[in-house]
Amino acid sequence: MPEWSPGSWRSKPAAQQPAYASEAGLALAVSRLASLPPLVTTWEIELLKTQLAAAGRGERFLLQGGDCAEQFDECTADTITNKLKILLQMSLVLVQGCQKPVIRVGRFAGQYAKPRSEDFETRNGETLPSYRGDIVNRPGFSPAEREPDPQLLLRAYERSALTLNFVRALVKGGFADLHHPEYWDLDFAQHSALAGEYHDMARGVVESLRFMENVAGVRAGEMGWVDFFTSHEALHLVYEGSQTRRVPRREGWYNLSTHFPWLGMRTGGPEGAHVEYFRGIVNPIGIKVGPAMTADTFARLLDILHPHDEPGRLTLIHRFGRHQVAECLPPLIDCVRSSGKTVLWCCDPMHGNTRYTADGTKTRHFDDILSELEQSFAIHRSCGSRLGGVHFELTGEDVTECLGGARNLSDADLKRAYRSEVDPRLNYEQSLEMAMRIARMMGETA
Ligand code: PEP
Ligand code: CO
Repeated sequence: MPEWSPGSWRSKPAAQQPAYASEAGLALAVSRLASLPPLVTTWEIELLKTQLAAAGRGERFLLQGGDCAEQFDECTADTITNKLKILLQMSLVLVQGCQKPVIRVGRFAGQYAKPRSEDFETRNGETLPSYRGDIVNRPGFSPAEREPDPQLLLRAYERSALTLNFVRALVKGGFADLHHPEYWDLDFAQHSALAGEYHDMARGVVESLRFMENVAGVRAGEMGWVDFFTSHEALHLVYEGSQTRRVPRREGWYNLSTHFPWLGMRTGGPEGAHVEYFRGIVNPIGIKVGPAMTADTFARLLDILHPHDEPGRLTLIHRFGRHQVAECLPPLIDCVRSSGKTVLWCCDPMHGNTRYTADGTKTRHFDDILSELEQSFAIHRSCGSRLGGVHFELTGEDVTECLGGARNLSDADLKRAYRSEVDPRLNYEQSLEMAMRIARMMGETA
């Protein structure tokens, strides 16, 4: 393999990168970023890697979730706490179902760059660059808003730091203490149909925890106290490169903008710049795998990105859609088996199940999401592998972006509170219900 550096991706074709008008403006922003402190530490990254390795062995379960794209305007106390609350509630339900510790990874504190299927968008005869996430440009449809602005790289870094600072302070302050799930109650959810079942479960967990503590005579350590890790799609290579560093007393280069970067499906070609970038970092990484992936390409990705079979290094996040998972997943499982390598299998049941309503609104149906998950659990089981994680686009807010669920949201409901600028997210209730359904599935097969 040729020499790697944080900038060696520049010698390869880089898809999905914005075209900045001013090279000098970009260089200035990047040099500023490169001089700012990292957002995460190598200790945290290595801890997550250890936990992901355990999930690969079936000793833990991964819950990864958050917005499709974070928005600068939503970097507020309420939105952040609500996101933590729903992830905590879901993980509590999952702990009950799978009887294993759950690893919580947010799609947050840096999920600002979006791949787009078209470089340009045309409305009423006017053509402008596509919106690529708040780290690049703005969603409004005017030339000024759509112009890629290097200053937004700094704003994204700052928002990531603000988010992470608040998450860490909440967790350290006791917000994530399993003895007090009442901290995670969401005001608007009191009257939800699921509230009773959830509260029974929460009470059950607290009681078991207290029972165990009384028997053992010690307060539960790691089990009673939970962590959050961060993840985002490492799409904007200039940004990622500026936070890719070496630290004293450790081998290798770390992406210190997030614990767990993932490689998106649209930038996963083995000859491309993104794979070149991912090859050289030592973080645990995720790879999104969709229906277009061939066995040959997949085998090459395993060689390039997982050459030493390091435990916890590689999570495969498959996202085939309910109609294709049965056909596409078994060959991948075979391919991993014949490579002799260990990976963590995770299912993203969102991105293969996107559809449009009659009026062109982008949505997903709860039943399709659930069906892909059910099939994935069953396929892994029958192929002798194990689904060790789930990946959702969700929010702790009361939005109406996905169809179905306990309230059976319909096309007409989507108009009420559709807030995503990109993909539709499960709302608070749909997310909790999804966790309950997964817990049941895992409970039945444990
Ligand atoms: C995403 O996770 O938001 C995304 C774009 O996914 P994928 O690369 O799997 O399409
Ligand atoms: Co998305």
